[in-house]
Amino acid sequence: MDTILVSNRVAEPSRTGAVPGGLAAVLLSAVKTSGATWVGASGKFAPAEEARMPTHSKKLGAGTLTTVDFPVTDYRRFYNGMANSALWPILHYRADLLRYEPEFVASYRVINEIMANVVADRAGPDTLVWVHDYHYFMLGEFLRQRGFTGPIGFFLHTPFPTKSVLICLPEHRTVLKALSAYDLIGFQTDEDLLRFRDYAITKLSATMVGQTELQFGDRRVKLGIFPVGINVEFFAEAARENIDSNKSNRIKRGLHHGKLVIGVDRLDYSKGLPERFAAYERFLTIYPDERKRVSFLQITPPTRSAVESYRRIRAELASHAGDINARFGDVDWMVLRYINESFPPDQLAALYRISKVGCVTPLRDGMNLVAKEYIASQDPEDPGVLVLSKFAGAAKELNAALVVNPYDIGELAQALYRALYMERAERIERWSAMMKTLRGGNIVRWYEGFIDTLRESAVSPAPVASRSVA
Ligand code: F6P
Repeated sequence: MDTILVSNRVAEPSRTGAVPGGLAAVLLSAVKTSGATWVGASGKFAPAEEARMPTHSKKLGAGTLTTVDFPVTDYRRFYNGMANSALWPILHYRADLLRYEPEFVASYRVINEIMANVVADRAGPDTLVWVHDYHYFMLGEFLRQRGFTGPIGFFLHTPFPTKSVLICLPEHRTVLKALSAYDLIGFQTDEDLLRFRDYAITKLSATMVGQTELQFGDRRVKLGIFPVGINVEFFAEAARENIDSNKSNRIKRGLHHGKLVIGVDRLDYSKGLPERFAAYERFLTIYPDERKRVSFLQITPPTRSAVESYRRIRAELASHAGDINARFGDVDWMVLRYINESFPPDQLAALYRISKVGCVTPLRDGMNLVAKEYIASQDPEDPGVLVLSKFAGAAKELNAALVVNPYDIGELAQALYRALYMERAERIERWSAMMKTLRGGNIVRWYEGFIDTLRESAVSPAPVASRSVA
């Protein structure tokens, strides 16, 4: 059975090797090895909608990458508007940042329909289609309208919010009811699944069939939990190999035997960066002796800069970072290195390994792969400590981290101190437990687990769920 994967962003490693965002990095390695076709946006535009939009295909390892040129106005309303000004804030519990215009949802339909045409043109009777993320909630419905009867799965990489937040989105029913066209809907955590089930029952008139299936009219949809994993061995090896690169050595020399704390996040209000900076300030205030012993490296590539809320957080963080360095830095010591750039994964792996603490403190996050990459990159004999937000999906699996509430600045400041001075035996014990979890749920298992469950759901009308929830 051939497989078509669909996501908005597709990844071709850039010249530097940097891959934008978690989803694209995960799918890139899956496509290269599985031989699937991956369809997404080309980033190029056609002036207006045509019957068939231009597409471009090329090999990607054993697989194929096909990209689509979209009509410029609709794509901007779809991506900057519906996806990132309406859906993203709602999915991350930020109804206060929601901006909505009726043309957003109109263009969202247009882009989902164009993508449905592209997929329908390539799908045979035996094709399995797997759609990724909130950009394409409606794609399955449009594919069914085009007569496609094969298995279609959907995976949400973000959190699914509670219904009281979701209903702030105008047209939420139009957009989310379309999910009933899928055979399998996958979530990162059990809580996301339960919130979706509750919303579907109370707002979309779905009925429960057992614990993990929903009936929408004549359609039966299976729900499953598939926590996304990483390529653990890639990070472990890359960290080992790059630890003595010129760049790594320069950083180590610059630390003068001090300790490094690292944060790596897209520049996004969901990542809890102002709170993290405030916690670091608190730490430097409570423990003044640490001012020349610790340096914080925050790598934060800007994204979605056409959206106002992103421009605001960018300006806020730049000014906050400047204040921290002005207040606590010295001529011979940089307390905070705040960098708006992305790094290739092998360099990141080395930076993770040099860092005594990995600070991953989003206010909300579907999974957060940086948490997993940090653990996979550590030296087994002398691992660093992960400080992890309880609101990241990763906290479900990585509960041997120092799990914190990112809104509690004092708790976060104390956790940094505890992490920096944790005994080696305790660090090894915590790290070993997390590494075992990561190896058990790596990216190959995630990919194959979803595909196998989707295949089964299409064969049997009432298949067994991937994992049961109460
Ligand atoms: O699910 C969220 C996500 O797709 C991440 O995997 C990724 O980091 C991010 O969004 C990318 O967003 P964008 O494509 O808008 O830069």
